[in-house]
Amino acid sequence: MVVHQNVPIWDQKAAIADVKNTFVGKEDALKQSYDRLVQELLKKKGEIQAAGPAYIPTCNYQDIVSNNGKIPDDLAKRVHETGCFIIKGVIDPEEVLARKKEIQEYWYGNEERTGNKVRAVQNAPGLIKLRQQPDLVKCMAAANSLWHDPSGETEWVADKPMMYIDGCRIRLAGQPGGMPAHVDSGGIDRWHHQAYRKCYQKIWQGKWEEHDAWDVTERVNLHLQCNKLFRAFQGWVAMSEAGVDKGTIRLCPAIKEQTAYYLLKTLVDPEMTEKKWPQVHGIPLREDLYPLINECLVTIPDVQPGDYVLWHCDLGHSVEYTHNGDKDSSVAYIPASPMCPLNASYLAEQRTTYLEGAKGPDFQIRDHEKGLETTYEPIPKEDDLSDLGKQLMGFAPYTVGPNDDEKTKNIVQKCNQILGF
Ligand SMILES: [Fe+2]
Repeated sequence: MVVHQNVPIWDQKAAIADVKNTFVGKEDALKQSYDRLVQELLKKKGEIQAAGPAYIPTCNYQDIVSNNGKIPDDLAKRVHETGCFIIKGVIDPEEVLARKKEIQEYWYGNEERTGNKVRAVQNAPGLIKLRQQPDLVKCMAAANSLWHDPSGETEWVADKPMMYIDGCRIRLAGQPGGMPAHVDSGGIDRWHHQAYRKCYQKIWQGKWEEHDAWDVTERVNLHLQCNKLFRAFQGWVAMSEAGVDKGTIRLCPAIKEQTAYYLLKTLVDPEMTEKKWPQVHGIPLREDLYPLINECLVTIPDVQPGDYVLWHCDLGHSVEYTHNGDKDSSVAYIPASPMCPLNASYLAEQRTTYLEGAKGPDFQIRDHEKGLETTYEPIPKEDDLSDLGKQLMGFAPYTVGPNDDEKTKNIVQKCNQILGF
């Protein structure tokens, strides 16, 4: 293992050998567990295929507002089973369409000026405004609160989100595109990295039925190579209508079973030669290697501009290859991440990349470059952020409220210190 900036960079061959060594003697237990799992996932597949897009849990933003900012219990139960959900009507469609127009003006204006065509932009004024939209931030807090801390000792605050800067997708009508099934937030690290491996303890013990996908204990302490922030949910805000056959996302809505499936199958399948093991950037869920996940993928139900789609960081997903809609299929990637010292450290780095107009820190590690947006105009400023935006992005200290307990106050203070306040 090579250590670079205090993060491990795996030697792939050595990492696979080490993983295999770790599981020596446990093959029978894992295989029996896997066989039970396949039966269960086949059952899920039947349910998902019978229900279609309606299988994805959905609520209205007002359901959360009228429930004191929390996800209603019946929805929370479904999210815990599936690992994904849609909150409808979070931002006014007109507002979202205005932001999309600003993103396109930034694209086309800078393309004309510099001759450089960048479509995966992160620093368009329209995106910066969307990220700090107050109703959206309330949804992030509600989503983060679906995770839990069994010991009560973990340093995290669910309802004080921290912002991970990501890009957007504007896919014009009929435009090809799409993405095969995959999982983000790390690849081989899930088997190999000591702390990451602990998140799946029950699965390694042959007891996948007891796996808790929502335990934050280890997640907030994962110092990974190319995913330095804990993203509780990946997510996007719809900037257009989207739905079946309109070039949008497909999700594998069985969080516990599908996670156990890709983790166990990789270990027990004799077809998994070294070349087929994932690298560090994510897990490609190839149809030939992980057929059941691909068969469980379902396109989300119809969404409108301003709806918020969220999925667990372990959840398999893909993007439809066909886009037969007559309008663009567009999203702004805005995940939900809670406050924790790990995420505060990321904000401290991200502040710098933001002010350079560069890609976020994780993206720079992956792509080995700051990106062409550093030559674009306007370069983002601190003043582009509202008071709320400044907190989310690490430009202003977090504050405590009258209802915050001592533990929360201490974590807020610790995170503020990391950010230099
Ligand atoms: Fe992805």
